[in-house]
Amino acid sequence: MLSRARNVVAIMYQSYFNMLPTKGKELNEMTREEARRKIIFALDVDKLADVAVWAERLSGKVGMFKVGKELFTTAGPAAVEAVKQHGGEVFLDLKYHDIPNTVAQAMLAAGQHGVKLANLHALGGAEMMEKASQAVRKEFSGTARPQLLAVTILTSSTQETLQAVGIDRPVEEMVVRLARLAKASGMDGVVASPLEIEAIRSACGPDFLIVTPGVRPSFAAVDDQKRIMTPAEAVKAGADYLVIGRPIAKAADPVQAAELIVDEIVAGA
Ligand code: C5P
Repeated sequence: MLSRARNVVAIMYQSYFNMLPTKGKELNEMTREEARRKIIFALDVDKLADVAVWAERLSGKVGMFKVGKELFTTAGPAAVEAVKQHGGEVFLDLKYHDIPNTVAQAMLAAGQHGVKLANLHALGGAEMMEKASQAVRKEFSGTARPQLLAVTILTSSTQETLQAVGIDRPVEEMVVRLARLAKASGMDGVVASPLEIEAIRSACGPDFLIVTPGVRPSFAAVDDQKRIMTPAEAVKAGADYLVIGRPIAKAADPVQAAELIVDEIVAGA
């Protein structure tokens, strides 16, 4: 009887903790697996053979692999296949910006390749984002649907860059404005600089994905990144995914570097 009562209490206790919001759980007691899944390794290579090497080396050590314009233009969908063959998942970073129908069709094609994340430029406008979102939501469901991200203002753009194309608003205002528009147009999230995370999180709420490059673990060189945060700081600020390339790729032991980044996130979160 006593042990039955104990079991009931244990089940109630367990259910209470399962009901706690994920964000709270992530911040307070993030597991190594949760931290690992936040890391997107930037496959900044131009040969298919190199993709296979990295995918084999880092599958299970990072959460996803980013295939960008250079690699995709050189190797095509085979680059995505090579990652998937080693059990990895793909963020297709092709930043589409075109007429709504063309972007929607391109997103459908990305979905057919089985990518988990794909992106477009929010400056393409609400109709372009809505058409893309509606197309993938109609065609795919559950985990088969790629999640769509919008790029707001490229971090390489300055106030002068915007002014030269006729945009007079401050960069920070544009970033938040485009993030809100992306959310209202059905996007799952945005790609943003670490320094923009807090403003976007408070404008777009807890369920909007924020993917951030410009992250440097404490053990790595800064390279050409300027406005950086450590992985733990970016996660604390509210990032869901961190895009990390050279701190892993250029490390003497890339697998160990990925593990150290996981350590930093778990310790700092
Ligand atoms: O090697 P590193 O960690 O700097 O690589 C970051 C990746 O994120 C690269 O693929 C780079 O092109 C991309 N990226 C970036 N900064 C941005 C946007 C994208 O570094 N603002």
